[in-house]
Amino acid sequence: MKHQGIVILDFGSQYTQLIARRIRESNIYSEILPFNASIEEIMNHNPKGIIFSGGPASVYEPDAPRPNPEVFELGLPILGICYGLQLITDYFGGKVIKAERHEYGRAELEILNHEDLFKDIPNNIHVWMSHGDRVLELPDGFEPIARTYNAPFAAIRNKENKIWGVQFHPEVSHTYLGKEILKNFAINICGIVPDWTMGNFIHEKIEEIKQQVGYKKAICALSGGVDSSVAAVLVHKAIGDNLTCIFVDNGLLRKGEREQVEKTFRDNFHIPLIVVDAKDRFLNALKGVTDPEKKRKIIGNLFIEIFEEEAKKLPDVEFLVQGTLYPDVIESVSVKGPSAVIKTHHNVGGLPEKMNLKLIEPLRELFKDEVRKLGKELGLPDEIVYRQPFPGPGLAIRIIGEVNEKDLEILREADAIVVEEVKKAGLYRDLWQSFAVLLPIKTVGVMGDYRTYEKVIAIRAVESSDGMTADWARLPYELLDKIMRRIINEVEGVNRVVFDITSKPPGTIEWE
Ligand code: XMP
Repeated sequence: MKHQGIVILDFGSQYTQLIARRIRESNIYSEILPFNASIEEIMNHNPKGIIFSGGPASVYEPDAPRPNPEVFELGLPILGICYGLQLITDYFGGKVIKAERHEYGRAELEILNHEDLFKDIPNNIHVWMSHGDRVLELPDGFEPIARTYNAPFAAIRNKENKIWGVQFHPEVSHTYLGKEILKNFAINICGIVPDWTMGNFIHEKIEEIKQQVGYKKAICALSGGVDSSVAAVLVHKAIGDNLTCIFVDNGLLRKGEREQVEKTFRDNFHIPLIVVDAKDRFLNALKGVTDPEKKRKIIGNLFIEIFEEEAKKLPDVEFLVQGTLYPDVIESVSVKGPSAVIKTHHNVGGLPEKMNLKLIEPLRELFKDEVRKLGKELGLPDEIVYRQPFPGPGLAIRIIGEVNEKDLEILREADAIVVEEVKKAGLYRDLWQSFAVLLPIKTVGVMGDYRTYEKVIAIRAVESSDGMTADWARLPYELLDKIMRRIINEVEGVNRVVFDITSKPPGTIEWE
């Protein structure tokens, strides 16, 4: 049985994920489904209320996305946001037209009725608008409950049929008390008890996994990152030693990474762990290869090959644990609105299809920050919980050109210094990524009385919210200076350090 909550039908707004997050922040479960989800699918999620998201379409266009009309017959409270409000207006016979003036940005909302949606909200608040259409006439049975200067029907309701609509976006932070408005809908109107916490998510998930797996066996590919680590610990809580984790040491890891995985999983959590030392195989396969995409392919394929070999040695495995997150799941169902995102990188591409195993994806309902909370709750160390993303091909795509053991050693040391100093400066968690890159050129320097001719390290540090776009981080000069000094003094083979000031686009975060 799923936790009671709110189902959000996605009409393609760039803010749809935010609606789910805001509601979850109030300890109320919520899920996003495609706008045309069947009634059966919707009811499978045990909703006590439904939200229609915004979207880029106009309701008067012939191919405008519409929900299954039966959602209006379910007797569940409905809240339409922006396009959602216009859909409701249109469906019940009101009139929506193109606005003479686009209303975009901040607007002052005057609340006319404080009974339900706006309970305990002040009379006047700032809200965030973003729309090109407006409601001209309300359908029968509806009344305005708030207005702005440009929009007399900025919020409406039909109390008898339990339908509400708002023209503004309560989910964005620019709307004052927007989270409270969503909470009012969920608690006052839908009657949900706000008891969805990480503790009880863990409890429910464990029961669900036990039911799904029973006494059968599962494997998990650990990468050392937060997603696969949290997934593994959670599944281990459910099925105990019927879970085996496999960690492939490809020789392309950061300093101390393998040791930390061994310590955490084997020593602290007592999870059966197989560590495969495959350094030589990877380095051999990468010999002479300089093309970045070729490197990726070789590493990805070899990983799958090794993982399969190990899995075959274990008898009767039927399940594969993966740390898939919610954004990966909804990207694939979201309508092709402005929110459609193109994903190019996948951590463990191709594993499930090839291996014919059933999937366990215990994190597929969670956002990254929720996974971190869960990791903390499960007792994982901060070093894993707050780890910055690290690419599957590892240091191989941070050594420009051919990869060899000696350069890996140089990069590993330099990278460890960057990470250590960034952490000491208290910036590690604010940065999306911060790392070192080894360049395939030598430059002249002078150390003591000697001329040197050695390699160059580039420092890369970026701020980003999802890795799709990024800005270079304005690291303090003192920090850069400290990193430079330490790298040149402590890492043999490097005599110059440079700082990358390219944003994405036009650059990518990784250099290859
Ligand atoms: P780029 O370099 O494309 O990177 O700006 C965006 C994000 O993806 C990570 N990345 C990868 N992750 N396999 C991965 O699992 C890869 O081949 C790969 N390439 C880049 C990168 O670290 C950044 O977070």
